[in-house]
Amino acid sequence: MARNAGAGKREPRTEPASARELEEILGKVRDARNFDFRNYKRGTLLRRVQRRMEDRGKRTLRDYSALLDREPAEFDALVNSMLIKVTSFFRDPEGWEELSAKVLPRMLSEKRTGEDVRVWCAGCATGEEAFSAAIVLAEAMGPSFGTQEVKIFGTDVDERAIAYARKGQYTRGQVESVPKKVLSEWFVEEGDGYAVRKELRRSVVFGINNLVSDAPISRLDLLICRNVFIYLDTPLQKRVLSRFHYALRRHGILMLGKSELIPFAGRIYEPVDLSLRIYRKDGRRDSAVSQERLMGLLEQETAAREVDDAGEQAGSVDQFHREVLQALPLPVVATTLDGSVMLWNVAAAHLWDRPESDVTGKKLTSLNLPGLSGELLIEKSSMVREGRSDREWGDGSVGRPGDTQATQISVEVSPLRDAGGAKSGLVYAVGDVTSVRQMEFELRRANEERQSAYEELQTINEEMQSSNEELETTNEELQSANEELQTTNEELQSTNEELETTNEELQSTNAELDATNRELAHRTEEMNKLASNQRAIIRSLSAAVIVLDEAGHITLWNLAAERLLGLSEGEALGQVLWTLHVPALNRAVLAKMRKALGQNLGMRSEEIAYELPNGGRGTATLAGLPILDGGAPLGAVLIFEDTTRLAALAAENAKLKENDVRPAQPGDR
Ligand SMILES: C[S@@+](CC[C@H](N)C(=O)[O-])C[C@H]1O[C@@H](n2cnc3c(N)ncnc32)[C@H](O)[C@@H]1O
Repeated sequence: MARNAGAGKREPRTEPASARELEEILGKVRDARNFDFRNYKRGTLLRRVQRRMEDRGKRTLRDYSALLDREPAEFDALVNSMLIKVTSFFRDPEGWEELSAKVLPRMLSEKRTGEDVRVWCAGCATGEEAFSAAIVLAEAMGPSFGTQEVKIFGTDVDERAIAYARKGQYTRGQVESVPKKVLSEWFVEEGDGYAVRKELRRSVVFGINNLVSDAPISRLDLLICRNVFIYLDTPLQKRVLSRFHYALRRHGILMLGKSELIPFAGRIYEPVDLSLRIYRKDGRRDSAVSQERLMGLLEQETAAREVDDAGEQAGSVDQFHREVLQALPLPVVATTLDGSVMLWNVAAAHLWDRPESDVTGKKLTSLNLPGLSGELLIEKSSMVREGRSDREWGDGSVGRPGDTQATQISVEVSPLRDAGGAKSGLVYAVGDVTSVRQMEFELRRANEERQSAYEELQTINEEMQSSNEELETTNEELQSANEELQTTNEELQSTNEELETTNEELQSTNAELDATNRELAHRTEEMNKLASNQRAIIRSLSAAVIVLDEAGHITLWNLAAERLLGLSEGEALGQVLWTLHVPALNRAVLAKMRKALGQNLGMRSEEIAYELPNGGRGTATLAGLPILDGGAPLGAVLIFEDTTRLAALAAENAKLKENDVRPAQPGDR
């Protein structure tokens, strides 16, 4: 904070606690990013930090400081925000017009043939200013721009801004301030915007340079540094201005920003057009003046020099003149040429509170009178004495006991001449300029305040412009996000419609499936009924029915089979018939049956003798039929029918028929 004490008086006040926290944040930025903002105006810095705080949802500087510790990437965003990069082509056009019309033609005419031309745009942000300088220079030089060695250096401390500048490509919005004719001559349309022509780009070199800590570019004919000083405090402005002095060639031109009226610039530069902030390096303070000396000059430090010994004799003062002088209300002191006091009027005695007798004959320089500076008594007095100057002035102040305010005096030293016109001594006439100085002081302060308010306004303007640009970018991003969302929405809508159609189709398919299902259920029920009927019928048949699957496993074994073949349904189901031991079924017959069925043929065997379950002998028929599905075997049905009774009846029938054939016997009916 100590270094900031010299900053503009109108810096917005920050509460001591937040001032401390802001300094702490600046310290962190210095450590993390090696960027020293200590000599930047606090008002701007505070507003920029507060912006980041808002963006990151932090309510206090302390919270934001803690965020910086947690997220080092935030330093980039903060530095980016603190370096406001508002710029445009030919910004504040009056300055560029003056350069084209007067300054550059004069500068070029003063150059030796073939001498190179060097221009530096310091703090050029994204390059528009450096290209503007290249264009006005190219137009002022004409064809020799292409043949002579010309270099325009565009520098900034912001790496991203310089990377952008190096591309030399700008959007339509960015070239809006370029006059149509200039646009068609020095730019080419490229993609959605414009690119700077090669002929111009060749002469413009971009690089990183920190005005606070890096060495300046030297041997410059023109140095443009606009709207950078408004962010710096007074000591830093002075430091950078003195470096610029060093960087410029003799009579080199310095151009500052419209709102940058820096009072002490006038001490080392001569104004070319003060209202446009165009200066020229003061030839009397050329580059041989060292930096330290320059700083000294800026501070108006005065060095004492040795006293010249005057070799001339003191002259006498006429008595009449003495009386007149004694009566004057203005303090007047007269000395001989060697500086001994000869006259000390009443007003002088009153001012310095010393009687004439106390000072007469003594060297004025030895009296140590307040308000009479060494410069006036030695350097300026000898200039008048030696005739190098007719009169000289010096300012000072005299504090008298009891006065609340020191008396400001202006002392004029002029030669005292004798009747023959020869110099006989020096007269020091003292004027009380307290009220004038007071007015000057107030005027200066009012001017400084006005200037600092103006600069403050300008920085706020730039901040607002930068915020505006950020808002525009955000807006554009939002618009494009919106468009993307709309497209996605439309796609979703169309997908939705497709889904709805598919849904309807599925619903109708579902309804069909439902109907089919119901139909199937109905059929299944019927089939089940049929099957159980069949089962009941088959179970109640008097013939044994055996159903086999394709591999010969028994899948059906009815009641008659249990009765005729002597095996229960439980014992028979699942067994392979061909290997099952069924006493009633002759193995040879079974083998024949298996063979026939294996060839998908049916077979019927009559009169098979078999043992009845009651132990008697009986006869039966066995029929087998393959079950085929389009020629493929699914299994077989075997029907075993007991024909014992039938055979007995047939035998009886045959016997009866035989009896019918013999002649009727008595007793036959
Ligand atoms: C408001 S812009 C001005 C751009 C241009 N000169 C104009 O007037 O259009 C201020 C520029 O100064 C740069 N800047 C700030 N401090 C700097 C420093 N110490 N050294 C170099 N450039 C600096 C910033 O990065 C920013 O690009």
